[in-house]
Amino acid sequence: MSRVRHILILTILLAAPASAQNLDSLLAGMTLEEKLGQLNLLSANGRASPQQMQLVRAGKLGGLFNVIGAENTTPVQRIAVTESRLKIPLLFGLDVIHGYRAIFPIPLGEASSFDPDAAEATARAAGQEAASFGINWTYAPMVDIARDPRWGRIAEGSGEDPYLGSLMAAARVRGFQQNIFATAKHFAGYGAAEAGRDYNETEISPRTMREVYLPPFKAAVDAGVASLMSAFNDIAGVPASGNAWLTDTVLRREWGFTGFVVSDWTSVAELIPHGVAGSRSEAGRRALTAGVDMDMQSSIYVDSLAALVGSNRIPMVVVDSAVMRILRAKLRLGLFRDPYRARAAPANVELRALARRVAGESIVLLKNERSLLPLDKAGTIAVIGPLADNKEEPLGPWHTQGRAEDVVSVLQGIKTKVQTVLYAQGSGIDDTSKAGFAAAVAAARQAKVAILVLGERGDMSGEAASRSSLGLSGVQEQLLEAVAATGTPVVLVLMNGRPLILEWASDHVPAIVETWFLGVEAGNATADVLFGDVNPSGRLPVTFPRVLGQIPLYYDHRNTGRPPDPNNKYTSKYIDVPVTPRYPFGFGLSYTTFAYSDLRLSAARARATDTITASVTVTNSGSREGTEVVQLYVHDVVASVARPVRELKAFRRVTLKLGESRTVDLRVALRDLWFIGLDMKPIVEPGTFRVYLGPNSAEGLEASFECIP
Ligand code: BGC
Repeated sequence: MSRVRHILILTILLAAPASAQNLDSLLAGMTLEEKLGQLNLLSANGRASPQQMQLVRAGKLGGLFNVIGAENTTPVQRIAVTESRLKIPLLFGLDVIHGYRAIFPIPLGEASSFDPDAAEATARAAGQEAASFGINWTYAPMVDIARDPRWGRIAEGSGEDPYLGSLMAAARVRGFQQNIFATAKHFAGYGAAEAGRDYNETEISPRTMREVYLPPFKAAVDAGVASLMSAFNDIAGVPASGNAWLTDTVLRREWGFTGFVVSDWTSVAELIPHGVAGSRSEAGRRALTAGVDMDMQSSIYVDSLAALVGSNRIPMVVVDSAVMRILRAKLRLGLFRDPYRARAAPANVELRALARRVAGESIVLLKNERSLLPLDKAGTIAVIGPLADNKEEPLGPWHTQGRAEDVVSVLQGIKTKVQTVLYAQGSGIDDTSKAGFAAAVAAARQAKVAILVLGERGDMSGEAASRSSLGLSGVQEQLLEAVAATGTPVVLVLMNGRPLILEWASDHVPAIVETWFLGVEAGNATADVLFGDVNPSGRLPVTFPRVLGQIPLYYDHRNTGRPPDPNNKYTSKYIDVPVTPRYPFGFGLSYTTFAYSDLRLSAARARATDTITASVTVTNSGSREGTEVVQLYVHDVVASVARPVRELKAFRRVTLKLGESRTVDLRVALRDLWFIGLDMKPIVEPGTFRVYLGPNSAEGLEASFECIP
């Protein structure tokens, strides 16, 4: 096509019916009420209420969420684009977190795959399915770094590590945005809620904010995310939903973010109980001037800000900038041209195949004494526990339109592989009745192996689901002990949304499999792993402590001036428990084994602008094909600010045949070894860097290089 023709077509496209230039004239023609209306976002209850439709007609709503099904979004959109004065289309939002109806593993589980491509694929599929139901905007990915397993929302993110979290954040943004807009949330620091209590205050130093909590948001912004959601929490007294440093200085001025910021549910109104605003209008002024463009569910902007704009306490340019960000987003999404965005749903068989594959990758084998797993398909197997024949809980928290009827339970999955299965529920998830114990014990006695499926209900993690104890709830632990006492070998299959404290089980149960909440294909994926059709390759994206009192416990801590020394009482440790975790970050077993040898670095000295390649030979030294996640950690030995003992900087999934050896190269650009210096600016300082290559954050071969000025 000739250049002239190309430009002509582009011009015609842009001219119809709104273009970037037209947005200026659109804005110029808006009343103040209509402008504030674009900044207003309300939740429906499945369908828009008559009052909400009236708001749309009057131009007092910029978007709706929780409208379910295209048969419900279409009529409201029609009101917006045909009956409202300016005909501006609506955004339709929903929390599509890990699937729309086809539910994939919870994000924390999926992060265990250490496979950003898998996360991108599920986000793309979820976005496509959601789009076919009229949704054009999701409130995901949740990219909050979380280091306290008491906090239920740890389930919604990618765990404790900023590097893994950043890769997962970018992948999910890319995936969702092939079909719908994404929202990186919750900006920022929500995962640091004190004592793991949801909505609680946070105390995050500016350095830790930049080094730990902000990188996944930056990655989402760099991946082109359309919106960010401001968080509920305060940071050292400044609520995130009225925090100009976050939403203006860092996000817009430093990072150049051009999308829009939406508040969390009533987080604008919550500036009043936080104690930084004395009235609704003051709360609205604080949030809007800080850079929160869209007000979710408080109705403060639309109800209370007109007078402040009239009296110039809020400059019109602040309102106009926020409105323009929303209008530009609608233009970018193509809503002016195609407000209904009718999309075909992805094929169900493809969704299920993807769900099964990614669920298989998300499973982490924590313990496997004397190679109890994988199990032989012959013989009698007892399947026990409140989550074994359960089709609701594998959906996990935030499962939007997921339905129990679509779920394959673990029992069903096992029955597709094994002829003789004895099932006993044994107990509830959190009640105290032991009435089912006898049947469970009897089943175990008749079987060659007992599989116990224990853990949490889906709603025991997610929002407003903080826990102060992290053992198995109810009488599940006693059930486990009673079954183990039969002498029949026990496999513990865990279903949960956070690290659990597994004191007794870790010491006494020969095989432990962490499955998180795997979604619709939970049972098939679990059975694939239990019987060896899939060799587990998941690795923990979060540390599992030994006991509750160790929390918070994460791998990239600093060394302290008195690192733990068993022979010296006056060093940093506990007198009653080891300082090490039960299972470290990055840990996970396979049915085969991998040997590491011959670690080499491409250079002994390098400049801050160079890239170093670390090469290591990985050999499948076990008994079958398997996938290893080769992990590279770095330690900056001496710096002007104390650096963590290890930081993950690269990893690669490698599948090796039995006996196969391969050289794995991992590259690290030295500019990625920055930290926030004494002057609060990012810096890479000259000096020695240790490099660790290995299977998890606690093991590996070691080498070092010098960063030279
Ligand atoms: C949650 C957000 C969610 C919003 C809308 C809030 O309570 O904190 O993560 O996106 O509700 O459902």
